[in-house]
Amino acid sequence: MKFEIELFEKYNIPTPRYTSYPPANFFRETDKEFDGAQMIVDSNKDLPHNISLYIHIPFCAQLCLYCGCNTHITHNRDTISTYVNTLIKEIELLSKYLDKNRKISQIHWGGGTPNYLPIDDIKKIMNAVNKSFEFINRPEIAMECHPAHLTQEYIDELVQMKFNRLSFGVQDFSEKVLDTVHRQKPLYPIEEIVSYIQSFPEVSLNLDFIYGLPFQTLETYEKTMRKALTLQPNRLAVFSYAHVPWIKKQQKSLEKYGLPTAEEKLILFKTAYELLSKNDYQIIGLDHFAKPKDELSIALKTKKLHRNFQGYCTLETTGQVYALGVSGISQMENAYLQNTKDLKKYTEKINQGKFAIEKYYQVNENEKIIRQIIEEIMCNLEVNLDKIAQKFNKKVEEIYKISQVNKQALKTYQQEGFIKMKHHSYQLTPKGQFFMRIIAAAFDPNMKNNHKTFSKAL
Ligand SMILES: C[S@@+](CC[C@H](N)C(=O)[O-])C[C@H]1O[C@@H](n2cnc3c(N)ncnc32)[C@H](O)[C@@H]1O
Ligand code: SF4
Repeated sequence: MKFEIELFEKYNIPTPRYTSYPPANFFRETDKEFDGAQMIVDSNKDLPHNISLYIHIPFCAQLCLYCGCNTHITHNRDTISTYVNTLIKEIELLSKYLDKNRKISQIHWGGGTPNYLPIDDIKKIMNAVNKSFEFINRPEIAMECHPAHLTQEYIDELVQMKFNRLSFGVQDFSEKVLDTVHRQKPLYPIEEIVSYIQSFPEVSLNLDFIYGLPFQTLETYEKTMRKALTLQPNRLAVFSYAHVPWIKKQQKSLEKYGLPTAEEKLILFKTAYELLSKNDYQIIGLDHFAKPKDELSIALKTKKLHRNFQGYCTLETTGQVYALGVSGISQMENAYLQNTKDLKKYTEKINQGKFAIEKYYQVNENEKIIRQIIEEIMCNLEVNLDKIAQKFNKKVEEIYKISQVNKQALKTYQQEGFIKMKHHSYQLTPKGQFFMRIIAAAFDPNMKNNHKTFSKAL
């Protein structure tokens, strides 16, 4: 695929990331009538039947200046202990409302830095989950880690607890870049950690990288990507640096070094994309890469790729997502629920035996149709509106009306060579894959009269 920088610039327009539909900035504040527990009970009758748990650990030892995640820097063991005890209470509370026949198919630990927790705390939380829930055979148990706290002993303990997906942030191999962004150094060389994790055949490894940081140049980034390739992780994520200093104030301090321009960023991504795809990695969505035998690559071929706030996954293993911890977002079939981001409020609510939900959204039937269309585009790179109509028991004309399809935009995308249209089927071309967010937006009625702000599409 030829990578045309001009096209990227032309279509680099603010668009939702569509990790949920509607996006999180449409969620509403809870009010007196709101009953989160009842919404959770109601989800028991919906599909998928399986349960995906998301466990958010908001703590880190040191703030990376680029960080856009929900983090809380602490060295106070009491703060961490209190949080762990609160999480356990939340697990017990949630289990009261979920049908006992439902089983866990996935657990995703995200952050912050979950492996900043002492391993005994991880065990305590996993024991609480084991006590309250049943599991399917071979569930996916994943943790986002920081290499600054990864020892062989820690990895051994995780593997014993049946963690089978480990991910950690490398971000870049250039010391100058890492020092500039205040990134804590790995405890052991990355190569050693990777090789140790790879000695467990049951564990799949993902490495995160970012492009768009100060001092990243074509030469340094190519070096980083070549080194990444020698490590042969099962998956890699290559994220575009989201610079939002009005939300994450510490990011402002990176501006004095000069940040790569949009065009320079594209060249960095082009470098990563070309190197990885030439070396057998399949691009998944916009910024993930997987080996051809990885289940994400297989799911892409069989059109069974799915996506949630935690990233890409397969339709076979995913369940409705129930989030635990500050800021976590539950993604059920009919509703989204978001916990408060405030640690104090979270602890108080859970200790009163109540959920700490601050925002929610109830998805109506029309929105479910649009969500399905957008998911097909963002995951499986094609959507057939006849099939969507069949699934939702509607006529295809009604589907066009509900999603208020922007036919003019689709025609333009066809002329640009982004999509192929046949009857009611829309297929993204390899070039079009990079424009999936704007193509999805053509099926989103909220994009007609919206006043919300979104990040640029690329
Ligand atoms: C929760 S962290 C991963 C675990 C651990 N805290 C670490 O940093 O290694 C999630 C990932 O989000 C990405 N990330 C963080 N801030 C970002 C930003 N502003 N723009 C793009 N990606 C970002 C980083 O690649 C990071 O590895
Ligand atoms: S990038 Fe990771 S380690 Fe750094 S502050 Fe963010 S969550 Fe913490």
